[in-house]
Amino acid sequence: MSHSVSPSPLRSTASGPLKGAIRVPGDKSISHRALMFGALAVGRTTATGLLESEDVLATADAMRAVGAIIEKQQDGSYAIDGVGLGNLLEPESVIDFGNAGTGVRLTMGIFGTHDIAATFVGDASLSKRPMGRVLNPLREMGTSVIARSGDRLPASIRGAKQALPMTYRVPMASAQVKSAVLLAGLNAPGETTVIEPIPTRDHTEKMLAGFGADISVTINEAGERVIKLQGQPELKPQDIEVPGDPSSAGFPIVAALIVPGSDITVENVLLNEHRTGLITTLVEMGGDIQIVNKRVSGGEEIGDILVKASRLHGITVPADRAPSMIDEYPVLAVAAAFAQGDTFMPGLEELRVKESDRLAAVARGLEANNVPCVETEDTLTVTGGTNNIGGGTVTTHLDHRIAMSFLILGLAAHNPVTVDDGAVIATSFPNFINLFEEMGGTITKTGSEAA
Ligand code: S3P
Repeated sequence: MSHSVSPSPLRSTASGPLKGAIRVPGDKSISHRALMFGALAVGRTTATGLLESEDVLATADAMRAVGAIIEKQQDGSYAIDGVGLGNLLEPESVIDFGNAGTGVRLTMGIFGTHDIAATFVGDASLSKRPMGRVLNPLREMGTSVIARSGDRLPASIRGAKQALPMTYRVPMASAQVKSAVLLAGLNAPGETTVIEPIPTRDHTEKMLAGFGADISVTINEAGERVIKLQGQPELKPQDIEVPGDPSSAGFPIVAALIVPGSDITVENVLLNEHRTGLITTLVEMGGDIQIVNKRVSGGEEIGDILVKASRLHGITVPADRAPSMIDEYPVLAVAAAFAQGDTFMPGLEELRVKESDRLAAVARGLEANNVPCVETEDTLTVTGGTNNIGGGTVTTHLDHRIAMSFLILGLAAHNPVTVDDGAVIATSFPNFINLFEEMGGTITKTGSEAA
């Protein structure tokens, strides 16, 4: 699963208007959780529209390693025959999560309160990312850990024989940390409480309730979310329809806004309020975006998004909006490059610990393509609407969203944009190039432009 062996550079060039109705692949956060919770239920869970990307398939393998049976059906859906909470088998070999932070962190939570030992490895990007944010609360619940310095992968854990439930205040805005503690709490007797001062995506809470867990969310006097989970529930299998991923939808949405004459529809996109910060921001910037056909499926709001090319202007993006668009800042920076004036983005400290140091990777990519920007420890300012955008090569640092974002930049730039490695796009959006081709976007492998 290493992407560094044979880099596969890609290039995008100015395109004619993007047109058509498309669907982006299934939501990554929900896909990981469908496989995990299905594995913990007794009986058969089905998932339609599951994202078949490297990250999610790594989670499927991890759940198989502890005894779940996961198979693709003829109709394209996945059947997950769960092994049951408390019944996980010890994996026979090392678990390789590739590039997948969500996969490894949530799985550590699940395994951390089961009496099994497991060793986790990942690619060069995942091996640099901090795991202490999850391992520290797990240690308090009784998990033993041996990890590389700084709590990096590879890491081995031995789950608690008798886990202790806990009350944990999440110290950073992280749905992964919140989820890891809740998932550890599943197999701990008694009540686990997670206090979330800054709200983040709530798929774990919603889906656990759907699987029959006793979980409640209230707001305390300080305005913080307080999530209480009763341990050792019997999880009941579910039929899950995975909606389109709003983070993936961000790429065609921004592309359609910045490529003149474009007019597209992105159908069936998840509209969970903790995931729609990019759309709110783009509308504030003057984007012609309409949401139609809103409906509810599996407890989540979904809808179709109509986007037309627009004259954008720079804005200040409120810092407290960051958790609802945390994965979308790279592509927002691309939109900002084509907006008149400055776009100021504060509150970006978490971007430093994503698949790459995304704040630095975005700033270097913009600079390489003649887009003026200023990076501080936790802010980015992009000055848009300048001439001569493009012409550079972007280092992706094994970060799928950096690769995709800068390919979008090239679709509206004055000169082509090259990314040094597009292979990593497969971690979240395997049909990215084909989908853009369908809409009329020109993204090619370098050296095979005629192909
Ligand atoms: C995710 C949470 C976010 C996000 C990631 C998916 C999840 O990470 O960046 O892509 O599914 O819980 P953090 O919890 O680190 O913010």
